[in-house]
Amino acid sequence: MKTVKIRVNRNGIFEEYDVPENITVLDALNYINKTYNKNIQYRASCRAGQCGSCAMTINDEPRLACKTKVKDGMKIEPLKGFNIIKDLIVDRSSYYKKISNIRNYLQYDEGDNNDELTIYPKDMHDLKDIRRCIDCLSCLSICPARKFSNFSGPTLMRQIARFAFDPRDNGDREKEAYFENIYNCTTCGKCVEVCPNEIDIVHKAIERLRALSFKSGYYLKNHLKVRENVLKSNRSVVKEKTPLLEDENIKDEYIVENEKMRVAFFTGCLVDYRLQDVGKSAIRVLNAHGVSVIIPKNQVCCGSPFLRTGQRDIADKLKKKNLDIFNNLDVDAVVTICAGCGSTLKNDYREKEFKVMDITEVLNTVGLIEYKPLDIKITYHDPCHLRRGQKIYVEPRNILKNIPKLKFIEMETPDQCCGAGGGVRSGKPEVSSAIGKRKAKMIYDTDADYVITVCPFCEYHIKDSLNKFKKEKGNLKDIGVMNIVSLLDKVI
Ligand code: SF4
Ligand code: SF4
Ligand code: FES
Repeated sequence: MKTVKIRVNRNGIFEEYDVPENITVLDALNYINKTYNKNIQYRASCRAGQCGSCAMTINDEPRLACKTKVKDGMKIEPLKGFNIIKDLIVDRSSYYKKISNIRNYLQYDEGDNNDELTIYPKDMHDLKDIRRCIDCLSCLSICPARKFSNFSGPTLMRQIARFAFDPRDNGDREKEAYFENIYNCTTCGKCVEVCPNEIDIVHKAIERLRALSFKSGYYLKNHLKVRENVLKSNRSVVKEKTPLLEDENIKDEYIVENEKMRVAFFTGCLVDYRLQDVGKSAIRVLNAHGVSVIIPKNQVCCGSPFLRTGQRDIADKLKKKNLDIFNNLDVDAVVTICAGCGSTLKNDYREKEFKVMDITEVLNTVGLIEYKPLDIKITYHDPCHLRRGQKIYVEPRNILKNIPKLKFIEMETPDQCCGAGGGVRSGKPEVSSAIGKRKAKMIYDTDADYVITVCPFCEYHIKDSLNKFKKEKGNLKDIGVMNIVSLLDKVI
């Protein structure tokens, strides 16, 4: 019998066992108890991915033990984010308490007539997905907003949404969501990634609930400031210097000979209004790779800050303006250098007639060129809206690994949210800082000279988080933060 070695964390101490290969983690735990006469405690019931009781941390991610096959060197631990009762059993009572707080039943008035208490198949359609939860609590265990603030967590929001969108319920669910801190969610998408039933809690519960909350007056004051900005200038941030698209030195097009691809450049608000040098680097880098660049000067904010904070009215208007411009261009793709813009154009612009590509996708598609050596030590931060919003994480790493002499060190959890997204940086800066502090620590642990990313929002927030961390700890070196195009501009 072929075996593999797995390690089980029992009350803080890892024990290593040989178990048969190709069996599930649940069967392996059973095997260990029988074969080695151990008494490892764990929860399980259905053995078929239906009861949700066997969720545990497997190789640092929450997974169902009955649905995960053992692998050599695998690490099995209790679900993180909960107190441990024994071995792999965690205390779920905090979750049950929260669930009972939200009035976990249909609310209606005594006098409601029977017609109002009927639900039709069309109403069920929207609710179907968010009703598929099996209470495994994987999403709660991994949610950064829950870990670093008093946010009740993704599955609680999903449960509130279930009632909010049920026509029979007339409870004040928007208020409930607001006071359970719905605006603390950074829309990082980690809960969706780990959910065994692939429930899209972010789009189907949180963003829809935020839209209801916004309409009912449950919003954050600072989100209205962002709204004012866009109403004035079509940009979500305030103009501080000449915007990239108003700079008279920036041409409408940069055409190369022997063109491999032609793209339209979607700058995003921060690159246009704050990080003009990043935008200029992007043009040079694309040209150096044989890509011609068209720059539509009348483009506007993609609408992401408004979609994420429930302000759909504004987002729809911005989307229409951008579609009118970009649907009519003769290009191979629209290129973004901001993870948030890219994810919004790809996932929320359903009516688009153009292809959207992140710059790292474009460069890998046309073929990387020979780069000059650069003797620095870097680490890479995966923006949530690139890693989970667009499933892009190999492409940037491939570019970085092709730069001679560059030392690339992965941080502990490169895809852990930096804390900036979902309107949290503007609306709940204290939550954003708390999440950012954890990111800053893992960046300092790598001892890198620079952090590279592909998102101006992450870039800004990580810079702030590193500065705060340095101030707090003292005696630390400066670590720079760069968009990947700024780095490439140094080596082309
Ligand atoms: S999107 Fe991220 S922050 Fe929001 S609920 Fe899911 S895991 Fe938590
Ligand atoms: S939403 Fe998904 S991850 Fe969260 S408790 Fe339900 S099934 Fe588990
Ligand atoms: S034992 Fe029921 S989901 Fe795994």
